[in-house]
Amino acid sequence: SIRQNNATNGGNSPLKLFTHAKITITDIFKNISSYVNDSNIYMTDVIKSDRNLITTDKYKDIQQLKEKVNRILSIISRDHMKVVFFGRTSNGKSTVMNAMLRERILPVGMGHTTNCFLQIEGTDRIEASILIPGSDEPKSVNNLSSISNALSNEKVDSDSLVKILWPKEKCRLIRDDVVLVDSPGIDVSANLDQWIEKYCLDADVFVLVVSAEATITVAEKKFLHNVAQRLSNPNIFILMNRWDATANEPEMVESVKQQHLERGLEFLCDELHLCDRKEATENRMFFISAREALLNRNTDPTTSPRSGYNEGYKERLVEFSKFEHEFEKCISKTAVQTKFEQHTNRGKEIITLLCETIVNMINKSQTIKQECQEKLVEMEEKNIFLEHELRSMTDSAKERIRHVSEDVYKRVAQTLNDE
Ligand code: GTP
Ligand code: MG
Repeated sequence: SIRQNNATNGGNSPLKLFTHAKITITDIFKNISSYVNDSNIYMTDVIKSDRNLITTDKYKDIQQLKEKVNRILSIISRDHMKVVFFGRTSNGKSTVMNAMLRERILPVGMGHTTNCFLQIEGTDRIEASILIPGSDEPKSVNNLSSISNALSNEKVDSDSLVKILWPKEKCRLIRDDVVLVDSPGIDVSANLDQWIEKYCLDADVFVLVVSAEATITVAEKKFLHNVAQRLSNPNIFILMNRWDATANEPEMVESVKQQHLERGLEFLCDELHLCDRKEATENRMFFISAREALLNRNTDPTTSPRSGYNEGYKERLVEFSKFEHEFEKCISKTAVQTKFEQHTNRGKEIITLLCETIVNMINKSQTIKQECQEKLVEMEEKNIFLEHELRSMTDSAKERIRHVSEDVYKRVAQTLNDE
């Protein structure tokens, strides 16, 4: 029944917050894009008929919006949630990731296994492929063992990044736009600062995988201190892995757990000041067994680990699911904020520019209309005056003509009489 729960909890996954936000913001920008197109057509018409309604600079700004909106749309389509896994060699980073991916994708093993950064991201293709730095053509891999072969055959730098393009249809996490980054052990990495710079600045969540048989090391703490200096309030989860080892010492479990918790909380709350102790205890530290979780989820018998569960495994499986749920809530909320807030602001700027420009044009055209109307009234008044003048002029002319003609008539009559 645990397996069934795991398989079905994808429907109401908190990751949907991000995927829905992505769909919504894409729709909004498509709308903006059509407003921008309409405005472009309208303004091109206007500028043909009257150049005074819009300045050439504003006109150019509006014409450029189309490309800007398309660029934002393409950035949104590539926006994702990113999680980086780190910790000492052999603590089980790759195993944790495989358990979350529900398949043994990443090579795991004793000793130093992962020897460069591995980014797992989604592809719409049916086949998985690997992208090695320096080449731009991904190589197809048709089974999981060829992933580890490809990785061990390629000579790659320990601080370079190899991408595994994993079919979206195979895995819910990948389908919902989560990108996972695996790292070589922090104790064997030469330049931690550089890898923060290269791979971590856009990460939404960091997962520190610690071996519960040991404890958090100085190197791991130093790494997180550096992360916290570069990113304000990073989201950090601490997984106390290999908790199945406690099955051998049941009387020690509680005291060991308290010891780990105390050290973890000291670090997260008192040193890094990331959250309060209650929040950290409930939502940031988990006691898990990645080996058992992978065993539980990986249904492929050919790649399933041979050995079975230890005593008390059910509790650890529940704890693993709890971690995943908190992780999904945290990563989707953060990614929505960090990725979409800036797009929302851009969108608002574009709409404001469009509105202002159009309102300006309407105002200008109204002023012109009003000026025309005033001129019209003025002309009409002048017209009436002139008409009046003309009429009175004609009247007086008529009068004078009448006078003159009467006068002439009289004189002619007089002359006739005299004769
Ligand atoms: P590197 O890649 O070398 O840095 O190591 P890693 O941190 O990726 O560890 P990996 O996942 O390769 O695991 C190392 C070994 O520990 C493997 O043999 C795993 O099977 C084993 N292992 C991982 N998780 C657990 C666990 O929860 N319990 C037990 N008992 N073994 C585990
Ligand atoms: Mg590994």
